[in-house]
Amino acid sequence: MDKKSARYRIEYLRNELGEHNYRYYVLADPVISDREYDRMMNELIRLENEYPDFFDPSSPSQRVGSDISREFIQVSHKYPMLSLGNTYSREELAEFDKRIRKAVAGNFEYVCELKYDGVAISLTYVDGVLRRAVTRGDGEKGDDVTSNAKTVRSIPLKLRGNNYPADFEVRGEILLPGEGFERLNRERAERGENLFANPRNAAAGTLKIQNSSLVARRPLDCIIFGILGDDLPFDLHYENLQKAREWGFKISEETMKFDGLDGVFDFIDHWDRQRVHLPFDIDGVVVKLNDFRLQRQLGYTAKTPRWAISYKFSAERSASRLQSVQFQVGRTGAITPVANLEPVLLAGTIVKRASLHNEEQMKLLDIHEGDTVYVEKGGDIIPKIVGVDKKARPQTSKPVNYISECPACGTLLIRVEGEARHYCPATDTCPPQILGRIEHFVSRRAMNINMAEATVKLLVDKGLVKDVGDLYSLREEDVVQIERFGPKSSRNLIKSIENSKDLPWHRLLYALGIRFAGETVARKLAAAFPSVDLLMGAGVEDLLEVDEVGEKIASSIVDYFSKEGNRIIIKKLREAGVNMQQSPDTPSQTEGILAGNKFVISGTFDHHSRDQLKALIEQNGGVNISAVSSNVDYLIGGSGIGPSKLKKARELNIPVISEDEFIDMINH
Ligand code: IVH
Repeated sequence: MDKKSARYRIEYLRNELGEHNYRYYVLADPVISDREYDRMMNELIRLENEYPDFFDPSSPSQRVGSDISREFIQVSHKYPMLSLGNTYSREELAEFDKRIRKAVAGNFEYVCELKYDGVAISLTYVDGVLRRAVTRGDGEKGDDVTSNAKTVRSIPLKLRGNNYPADFEVRGEILLPGEGFERLNRERAERGENLFANPRNAAAGTLKIQNSSLVARRPLDCIIFGILGDDLPFDLHYENLQKAREWGFKISEETMKFDGLDGVFDFIDHWDRQRVHLPFDIDGVVVKLNDFRLQRQLGYTAKTPRWAISYKFSAERSASRLQSVQFQVGRTGAITPVANLEPVLLAGTIVKRASLHNEEQMKLLDIHEGDTVYVEKGGDIIPKIVGVDKKARPQTSKPVNYISECPACGTLLIRVEGEARHYCPATDTCPPQILGRIEHFVSRRAMNINMAEATVKLLVDKGLVKDVGDLYSLREEDVVQIERFGPKSSRNLIKSIENSKDLPWHRLLYALGIRFAGETVARKLAAAFPSVDLLMGAGVEDLLEVDEVGEKIASSIVDYFSKEGNRIIIKKLREAGVNMQQSPDTPSQTEGILAGNKFVISGTFDHHSRDQLKALIEQNGGVNISAVSSNVDYLIGGSGIGPSKLKKARELNIPVISEDEFIDMINH
């Protein structure tokens, strides 16, 4: 392809991808498959790499972020970012309406919007291109988080059409939808990291990560609720928002106009009931005057506009009585205190149990027997106790003490420094841990064996299964003996066990339930160590080379395989014929020109960012590794290459190649 055709093609792909991105993330109405989208994105990245002259910071390829970590620079807001006055009752809202009517002659319109519970952002566009994204900060000055905001797919990098103002600002809320929040917390729990309390904290924390490629992995969303500028199309808020939708912004579909309080009250009642069905959290409704002239006329107090107000929903919180506290033992031995409550209605469901998290939290709450407690449902599905009504406490009631021994097996509990939870160390003998490990092993995302929890318990109670390795020596004659099993269901169970033998290696690795080795980590480990033998032979140092594997995970893996009992399990699984190696059709290892080759990148490069190089490695079947060791096939060196990496590569005779040599490699 000559340079001119490449340029046309790059432009074509950027437009197409921009359009499909908008259809997918803003309109939620995609017209092409994810695969087709990825194909075009890969082609664009390849061409942009080949023709670096055509670099454009607003190209859709820039949404992957960069791992260059930078401090945030503080910038002043052109228009201060104010907050809103809050109201909590219809009466207060009626007073707001009265104040408006006193100041305004004639008819006017209210715009009702949802009050998104995320993080405020200001986005500046110059000539249709995103120039800057700034957090609220203290309202006068905020942090420049442009590189992070660029990874948010619903924030347009370039506007659509051509009738937008030359220079203007939009205000909106960055949100983490409930589903993304739960996934993020699940992954954090798997890695033994602290959990985010709610989606707002998670969104705020994400926006402040100083490595935008990590931000890009979190499914942030952005909804726009305000436009500011000198030459906006209308002097009306609602109408400007509708125009902004045409320019490519995500504007809430729920926003409505009313000409009086009746409509506003209906809107509030509707969303107070329906908010549980929204994919993200809202904490109220915002009521604004639509007409900019009236807004200007009413003006501002020191901190808030007089032309807008928020109505806050009462938190999804209920009061109930604590009946007892139960201490659960998880499959990893982690202890969770759980409150048994008198059943209470909370956000549309009956709640009987709520988490008390850990000893510290119980102490903070100073929880007593028979206490009246407040239960809240955050973004998390598990309700939690957030407070105690101490005035309602029965006089004679005693504090609930934390346990020192495992409630299931009596072993003395331990608490690892830096961790909030207690653990039962009797891994091999503690019954709920044994059951939990088998239940995890057979679960859908692990080995997908069709076996109910009750069946697991019966098999263990009857002594037919002691660990996951024993599942594969079960015979139909054994299963048929257990309650509720007939010949047909026994046959099906054995078949389901048989079928699990051929699952990919990373599924087995996840199924083993090694502490801190969740699904994502298992995938990465399986790709870097394509068989159980390689993984078992790996030391902490080798493991640390894998992306996303830190000390905690690495030592947990080594610890697992160092135990005799676990080695016996692996032996049983191997003898049963369970797949324990990367199969030839796993793409990251055997497909692509780099097929399983391991690369370390060091330094900076003329034509690609490090992230672009990493993406190219993965797209071509290679594996990214962070440290040089004998496992590594190539070190790609740029200017400022790490001297210790270079030295080590030379010692180990690992080829050090340039950026151009690498590009040649994948273009052949
Ligand atoms: S308008 C001058 N509209 O609430 C008025 N704010 O307490 C500026 N928020 O920092 C805000 N949803 O982050 C407005 N539909 C909405 C909103 C909204 C959420 C947040 C925003 C702001 C805070 C004000």
